[in-house]
Amino acid sequence: MERILVTGGAGFIGANFVRYVIAHSQASIVVVDALTYAGNPESLRGLPADRVQLRIGDITDATLVDELVGEVDAVVHFAAESHNDNSLHDPAPFLNTNIVGTYTLLEAVRRHDVRFHHISTDEVYGDLELDDPARFTETTPYNPSSPYSSTKAASDLLVRAWVRSFGVRATLSNCSNNYGPYQHVEKFIPRQITNILNGERPKLYGSGANVRDWIHVDDHSSAVWEILQRGEVGRTYLIGADGEKNNREVLETILDLLGEDRDAFDSVADRPGHDLRYAIDAGTLRKELGWRPQHQDLAAGLAQTIAWYRENRWWWEPSKRQTEDRYVLQEQAHQLAAAAEGPGR
Ligand code: NAD
Ligand code: DAU
Repeated sequence: MERILVTGGAGFIGANFVRYVIAHSQASIVVVDALTYAGNPESLRGLPADRVQLRIGDITDATLVDELVGEVDAVVHFAAESHNDNSLHDPAPFLNTNIVGTYTLLEAVRRHDVRFHHISTDEVYGDLELDDPARFTETTPYNPSSPYSSTKAASDLLVRAWVRSFGVRATLSNCSNNYGPYQHVEKFIPRQITNILNGERPKLYGSGANVRDWIHVDDHSSAVWEILQRGEVGRTYLIGADGEKNNREVLETILDLLGEDRDAFDSVADRPGHDLRYAIDAGTLRKELGWRPQHQDLAAGLAQTIAWYRENRWWWEPSKRQTEDRYVLQEQAHQLAAAAEGPGR
């Protein structure tokens, strides 16, 4: 593959993927990104200009998408509204970008017969009980909980339908929770790290018992790169690195690494409809494509991530105040809604 279109390449995982491909191949990359609040062109800083080009634009713009898709060998589709908390307050952009945007791309790859890889999430499968030994597999039924995950589920089904109905050459991957550099400070791990670096207390939703299956973003990138080159068209691959931890454990590790007391955090109102546990069985990817994660020591990965946020204040500071202000407004909206519904809620 010589030329790849990466949608959402100024976002967290997209930018890390662009960096991965530049370091591990000869390919050149066109990034299309609308630069929403979550996109930051600085995440692509330092990459070779003759191999990485940023086109600012919206994936629901059919004319632009058609032009860009017509110039490449493959599309890797990361662009999305990605944050569950936001989807609970304003679902509209989630429907537009995640569903209409994916549809727009599918129509373009269909017209130009271009290879497509769709990036999705383990959240499409809903959640598992904390004490359930089961993990998600490629055959787990879809059962999304939030506006975010339901729009991602819808986009996955569109991709599957375009493969079957129109012969689009697509693969899909559903990955667990990523962490690493360039992640927006709204997300759990960078929010807590940057709170502590700013002398503010971390915020833990509810009891902190909810479990996420953490994977370093570079392991996600290497898996996607394998699937793009050697995956079987029409197939879904689950990506995970056996990294289950509850939120409280993750927060305590961050507090330890930053030299804070383990109880130096605020317990705040729980997320409505909060999924209990995600867990991925990535056996197929390991067996069929021989993929192996390289960063399975979460404490070591968190130490590296903390160092990155410490050294790159310039990258995250401009969005920190606005993000925390948004959380305050969301919390007030929850409280008003709860009061309006009365004590039986
Ligand atoms: P992110 O929010 O950091 O980045 C999303 C990017 O998409 C941003 O650069 C944003 O500007 C861009 N974008 C949004 N709407 C757009 C539009 N209409 N047109 C063009 N660009 C647009 O998200 P992320 O965490 O990097 O997630 C990337 C993808 O990976 C998403 O599809 C998400 O569902 C999926 N995913 C994320 C995780 C995770 O842990 N973060 C795990 C599994 C899957
Ligand atoms: O599982 C993959 C998904 O992981 C991706 O599809 C999403 O795009 C990505 O945002 C992520 O979703 P989560 O909702 O799991 O991630 P988030 O970082 O928002 O929260 C992780 C856990 O931490 C979750 O149980 C909620 C909790 N949390 C979150 C925040 C922001 C807190 O306890 N405190 C917080 O301040």
